[in-house]
Amino acid sequence: MRPLGVGIVGCGNISTAYCELAPLYRAIEVRACADIDPAAARSRADEFGIRACTVDELMASDDVDIVLNLTIPAAHADLSMQAIAAGKHVFSEKPFVLSLEEGAALIEQASKRGLRVGSAPDTFMGGSHQLARHLVDSDAIGRVLSATAHVMSRGMEHWHPNPGFFYQPGGGPVLDVGPYYITNLVQLMGPVVRVQSTCTTPFAERTVTADPRQVDSVPVGTPTTVHALLEFASGAIATLGTSWDVCRHSQPSMELHGETGSLSLPDPNYFSGEVSLWRSVAEREVLPEFDHPFAVTNYEDQDGTHKANYRASGLADMAEAIHAGREHRCNDSLALHVVEVMTSILTAGQSGSAVDINTRCTRPEPLSADEATAMLASKGQD
Ligand SMILES: NC(=O)c1ccc[n+]([C@@H]2O[C@H](COP(=O)([O-])OP(=O)(O)OC[C@H]3O[C@@H](n4cnc5c(N)ncnc54)[C@H](O)[C@@H]3O)[C@@H](O)[C@H]2O)c1
Repeated sequence: MRPLGVGIVGCGNISTAYCELAPLYRAIEVRACADIDPAAARSRADEFGIRACTVDELMASDDVDIVLNLTIPAAHADLSMQAIAAGKHVFSEKPFVLSLEEGAALIEQASKRGLRVGSAPDTFMGGSHQLARHLVDSDAIGRVLSATAHVMSRGMEHWHPNPGFFYQPGGGPVLDVGPYYITNLVQLMGPVVRVQSTCTTPFAERTVTADPRQVDSVPVGTPTTVHALLEFASGAIATLGTSWDVCRHSQPSMELHGETGSLSLPDPNYFSGEVSLWRSVAEREVLPEFDHPFAVTNYEDQDGTHKANYRASGLADMAEAIHAGREHRCNDSLALHVVEVMTSILTAGQSGSAVDINTRCTRPEPLSADEATAMLASKGQD
C-alpha cells in the first residue's frame, strides 16, 4: 500500500505523540510540519527528520495528501477549511470544531471536492473499547438500557503552565474531554436525540500552581461543572458527569447496563484498561479471550507510566479507507454529531431546557483484531 503523505499544522504538545506513533501504520507517512510559530515547526522537524515549512507552503505541498490539524481548538475550523480549499483531506484533533455551523460548512466544502474529513478521538478503536463493542454487539448484556460516564478532576491549573484557554468558551470539561466519552457512548449505543443539563461556574478565577507556571491566575469564562442527561435514538439513556471542580472521586469512568447484564469500561481517554462483565448481582464473569493489537502496551507517557497508545490510528484508518473506497471510522458525521451533542449540553445548561439533537450518525464499524493487525503491517505490504 502506498502511504499517504501527512502534513502537520500545529507543532505543540500533542504533535510529539503523533510523530512518534505515525510510523506504526502502513497507510501514512508524516512528511512536513508547520506552525504559526516557525521555531516550533523547526524544532519538531529537527526532532523527527521531517520538513519544516510555513502553513501556506504545507497547504501547497504536492507530497501532502492529508493535513493533520493539531492547532488549538479555536483555530481548528479555519485551518481545516484552508486544507480543504487547498485540495487536501483533513484530520483534526478534538474538538473537531466549536459549533455545528462551522462543522457543517466544512463538511459541505469537503464533499463538493470529494475530500475526506476526520477527527479525533480515536481511542474508541483501542482494544478495550473494541472488546466492549464486541460484547454489546454479541448480546452479552442484552439491549442496552442505560449508561453512566464520569470525567471529573481538579482542573488544569495544577499541571499546565498557561491554562487560560481551558477556561474560556471552546474549553471547559465538556468540549475538552467530553469528546472521548460521548464518542465512545455513540460507538456503543448509537446516536443521541435529546440532552438536558445543569451547569455551574463556582470560581471566577483559577490560581495557577503548575511548576513552572507562566501566569499566576486565569479568569473563568465557561462552566466548569456540567452534569448532563442524554437520550439515545435506541431509547437508552445516559448520565454524563463532567467537572474540573472535584478534588477526588470514585465514580467509574463508564458503565453500560443492559437487559441481562452490566459492563464496566476503562477510561475512554485511553486505548486500553480493564473491562468487566456482570450477568448476576454477585458474579463478575471471566471475559472471553480477546487479543487485540491496540490493547498492547507500547508507550511510555510523560509521567513514566506504560500504556497502550495508538494515537493516529483514526488518521491511519482514514488513509486505509481512502485507498479502499470505504467509510472511515473517525468520520465527519460522527464528529459533527458529537459537536452538536456537546454544544447542546452547554446550551441546555444555560437555558434550563432540554435540547433536541438534529444530526444523526451511524455507529462506526467495529475494528477487528485482524484489521488492526493489517494497519500495523510494514509499509509496502498489503
Ligand atoms: N496535549 C494533549 O495531551 C492533547 C491530548 C489530546 C488532544 N489534544 C488536542 O490537540 C490540540 C492541540 O493541543 P496541544 O496540547 O498540542 O496544544 P499546544 O498549545 O501545545 O499546541 C498547539 C500549537 O498550534 C499552534 N497554532 C495555534 N494556532 C495556529 C494557527 N492558526 N496556525 C498554525 N499553528 C497554530 C501553536 O503555535 C502551538 O504550537 C487541541 O485541540 C487539544 O485539545 C491535546
